[in-house]
Amino acid sequence: MIKISPSILSADFANLQRDIEAISTADYVHVDVMDGLFVPNISIGIPVVKSIRPVTDLPLDVHLMIDRPVRYVEQFCDAGADLVTCHVEADTEENIHAAIAKIRAKGKRPGVVVKPKTPASAVLPFIDEVDIILVMTVEPGFGGQKFMADMMPKVAQIRQYIDAMNPGCELEVDGGVDPVTAKVCVASGANVLVAGSAVYKAADIPARIQELRG
Ligand code: DX5
Ligand code: ZN
Repeated sequence: MIKISPSILSADFANLQRDIEAISTADYVHVDVMDGLFVPNISIGIPVVKSIRPVTDLPLDVHLMIDRPVRYVEQFCDAGADLVTCHVEADTEENIHAAIAKIRAKGKRPGVVVKPKTPASAVLPFIDEVDIILVMTVEPGFGGQKFMADMMPKVAQIRQYIDAMNPGCELEVDGGVDPVTAKVCVASGANVLVAGSAVYKAADIPARIQELRG
C-alpha cells in the first residue's frame, strides 16, 4: 500500500494542532527540520516535535535538513520522532553510521536522504541499517517547488537496491508531489509520498490524501 506523509511545512504554524488533525487519514506526519546551514532556510525543531507528539497518533516522520545530525538525533527521538532521516551529505560516512545507530538504539526507525545531485549509490553504505530511504525530488529548503521528474531513474535504481538488499526498507520521495507526479513516483518504485502544498492547498484534505494514494 502507498503511504502518504503530509509535510506540515505547508501548514499554518499558528494553527498546527488543527492542521495536524486535518491529516488524520494519512500514514505519517512529515516534519521538515531546517537549520539555515545545511539548507538556506530555518523552520522548526525539537520543541515543536515535542508539542505536536500528543496531538496525533500518527508516526512522526522527521526529515533532518541539518548539518551533522548525529549531534541531535537522540533529542529528536526523545521528543517523539518515530522515523528520523539524515542527509548523507550532512556529515562523514562514519558520523552518518553513528547517527543511524543512535536512532536505532532509541528504538526508532532510522533513514537516509539524498539530495538531487547525490547519486543513488550514496545510499549503499547504509542500506542494511535503515528502515527508510528518502529521495529528494526538489532541492531541499522550501515547499512549493517544481517536481524533478529526472530523479525517477534514481528512485528506480534505489528500488532495485532495496529489493535485493533490504526488502523491508521503505522508499520515500519528497518535493513537488501532487496527484499527477505521485503516479510517476509510484511507477518508479516509491511507496511513501511526502506532499506539502498538494495536501494543504486542497479544499478537501482527506479526499486529496486518498487521491494521492492512487
Ligand atoms: C523541502 C521539504 C519538503 C517540502 C515539500 O525541503 O523537505 O518536505 O515541504 O513540499 P511540497 O510538497 O510543497 O513540494
Ligand atoms: Zn521533507
